[in-house]
Amino acid sequence: MDRNDFVINRLTIDYQLKPFDCGDPDLNEFLHNDARFYLREHLAVTYLVETETDTIAYFSVQNDKISLDDFPSNNQFNKARKSIPRAKMHKSYPAVKVGRLAVSEKFQGLRFGPRILDYLKLLFVHNNRTGCRFMLVDAYTTKIRFYEDQQFCLLKPKNDQEKTQLMYCDLKPLQ
Ligand SMILES: CC(C)(COP(=O)(O)OP(=O)(O)OC[C@H]1O[C@@H](n2cnc3c(N)ncnc32)[C@H](O)[C@@H]1OP(=O)(O)O)[C@@H](O)C(=O)NCCC(=O)NCCS
Repeated sequence: MDRNDFVINRLTIDYQLKPFDCGDPDLNEFLHNDARFYLREHLAVTYLVETETDTIAYFSVQNDKISLDDFPSNNQFNKARKSIPRAKMHKSYPAVKVGRLAVSEKFQGLRFGPRILDYLKLLFVHNNRTGCRFMLVDAYTTKIRFYEDQQFCLLKPKNDQEKTQLMYCDLKPLQ
């Protein structure tokens, strides 16, 4: 397959999904069983990266916010909002959350994950209908390094007991 031989489609209620297996049962199940429910209830929208025959990857996004209460201390929150002008020091800021991101096993290791995150960051910086300052991800604790390499930071210290941890990326410096 050519690295650029794919399209991005928005999941619809009656969408015929192409085969997908990322090796993680929860993420497979979300796509096959839950994504349409989230769409119908206006809770999250799912996008599919596809070839003619396969689902390469999918990701789900929803509106969210980042606020003082999400951080262990004022200092940590101040670090996250350090590039926001003092006059706009609010207790929360608009964000988009990437609730799920998964690449099919067949296509892992080809940088689709990083490319999807770059695409989403640019989309929310340059082509967003509402204000959106931060991108959030619910990262598997085993994947924290991967997201750190993509400019995401942990809100709270790493905790190996947790399955997932929230991470943020400030979108403004990317404009
Ligand atoms: C994690 C995932 C999204 C990565 O996407 P991908 O397109 O396969 O990414 P690639 O393997 O091409 O990785 C790009 C870079 O991330 C690194 N990377 C991949 N997985 C990593 C991990 N678990 N920890 C640290 N770095 C990782 C790669 O080494 C590579 O680094 P390089 O640029 O220095 O070569 C994908 O493998 C996946 O969907 N896995 C199964 C489901 C899952 O775990 N989703 C994430 C939920 S938080």
